[in-house]
Amino acid sequence: MSSSINVIFQVQPGGSLNGEIRVPGDKSMSHRSIMLGSLAEGVTHVTGFLNAEDAISTLEAFRAMGVKIEGPVNGEVTIHGVGKHGLKAPDKPLYLGNSGTSMRLLSGLLAGQAFDTVLTGDKSLESRPMKRVTVPLAEMGAEIETQPNGTAPLHIKGKAGKLKGMHYDMPIASAQVKSCLLLAGMYAEGETSVTEPAPTRDHTERMLAGFGYPVTRDGATAKISSEGKLTATNIDVPSDISSAAFFLVGASIAPNSDVTLKHVGINPTRTGVIDILRLMGANIEVLNEREVGGEPVADLRVRSAQLKGINIPEHLVPLAIDEFPVLFVAASCAEGQTVLTGAEELRVKESDRIQVMADGLQILGIDAQPTKDGMVINGGQLGSGEVDSHGDHRIAMSFSIAGLRASGPITINDCANVNTSFKEFPALATQLGLKLATL
Ligand code: S3P
Repeated sequence: MSSSINVIFQVQPGGSLNGEIRVPGDKSMSHRSIMLGSLAEGVTHVTGFLNAEDAISTLEAFRAMGVKIEGPVNGEVTIHGVGKHGLKAPDKPLYLGNSGTSMRLLSGLLAGQAFDTVLTGDKSLESRPMKRVTVPLAEMGAEIETQPNGTAPLHIKGKAGKLKGMHYDMPIASAQVKSCLLLAGMYAEGETSVTEPAPTRDHTERMLAGFGYPVTRDGATAKISSEGKLTATNIDVPSDISSAAFFLVGASIAPNSDVTLKHVGINPTRTGVIDILRLMGANIEVLNEREVGGEPVADLRVRSAQLKGINIPEHLVPLAIDEFPVLFVAASCAEGQTVLTGAEELRVKESDRIQVMADGLQILGIDAQPTKDGMVINGGQLGSGEVDSHGDHRIAMSFSIAGLRASGPITINDCANVNTSFKEFPALATQLGLKLATL
């Protein structure tokens, strides 16, 4: 387990970011390409697949359930689909590492199979809330046993032919919960519909449609039934805007920067980071907009700008949910105060991202006050110091980016989990001009 090794990032202060890069493939879409490709009839070819630990956890889980999957080699994966009812019982618990998406989506997909499964994960994953999926799944007739506090390991009883469709009004805006229930709905009698309180990423709906599976969307409600099949297709996964975000912020805050990020997914349910940075005064151009395999894609050019503090509109929170660690760094470099509210979900991500970022920014001399559901940050001078990522990939990369405007070196502990989403980060960041060394 990589998280047991203390990988340390050390960043020397200053510098600027310049150049053109393509960041790795979208994590959410990579997970879904394996899940739907495995359940499809025929052979699915994926390009741009994210070769990082989280997506590999999903890939290995399906291999363990009898799906022949070749790759990834240079982002190419070939999945020999077994059809909707072709998965086989794995001979041991499915270990999903750090990946919340794998665990929550699989719990829905596996609830209606003809075999039992056990889902486990690392310390972080086994401390994250799972009742948000097991409670609505139970309403559909699923039998999933959690630990007493609602966490994994999850013991899932296969209830093939026993699940019943239902309507669910999600209490939280979560694409993982929505996707979990839609996948369970593929195995449930009648119709399953899910209404979200605010728009969340819709890659599951789009990709299901790409595989020819009927899923309808009516306002905030997505609807599916067991009447349908998945037909193999080719999937081109664009670059992950959540990985591009580190450089959107980095090039904004570092003087004399000019970076172009190629072929980035700009699905409107993911572009909150661009909207928020633009409200703060960032100079981001969206170029060569095109559509690839049902998903909008563009090149993003970002140049240095003097950012200003803002009140982050709450409707943008779910659309930028993974980008707040690095947006807190942007706020630290902005003139004036930035206020985030309505983001309590950040407390149950790979780490408590409100507390962990506030602690680190305070160590670096920034006035960052955590609140129940967000943070208040007064822009200032980032200093030097030693911070801890708490094994959270996005925290590690965010504090690396902070080095661009720091007055001295920053040491970041516990960075091994950068490999869960973006193992090329140190190399690409260095190529652009960040003075980062891995110890
Ligand atoms: C994801 C949904 C989001 C996001 C996560 C990936 C997905 O989680 O934070 O990194 O692929 O569906 P929530 O649904 O918990 O908000």
